[in-house]
Amino acid sequence: MPLLRLAQERDGWVTAEAMAEIGDILGLSSAEVLAVASFYSMYHLKPKGRHVISVCHNLACNLMGAERVIEHLEDTLGVDSEGETTADGAFTLERAECLAACDAAPCLQVDYDALHAKMTPESVEALVEELRT
Ligand code: FES
Repeated sequence: MPLLRLAQERDGWVTAEAMAEIGDILGLSSAEVLAVASFYSMYHLKPKGRHVISVCHNLACNLMGAERVIEHLEDTLGVDSEGETTADGAFTLERAECLAACDAAPCLQVDYDALHAKMTPESVEALVEELRT
């Protein structure tokens, strides 16, 4: 798994070549490496945008307005929230399971790192503008 993460950091996603390389290092087939990579949602098996916005849509966030935030992001970015990437390659929008910050609902993460709490349609629009610059 650390090799998958390194490969993803290097290439931006886990390529077939990287899986073969990892298989060679660990003495595994590419199919065995793919089985691990495809099980975990944090590994990308296709190219992603320069920024990945992951909006939690679990219970607490849903009750606090996550769907309004997601719909606003879909409209602002012109993409579907099921992992679609903008035409300019700047953003990938996806839905996330609980980010363990239910008291900050509705929340999202940018690039699987920075947590943004208590989001609203207005605050996500400001966030997108900040990320664009
Ligand atoms: S339900 Fe959204 S962070 Fe837990």
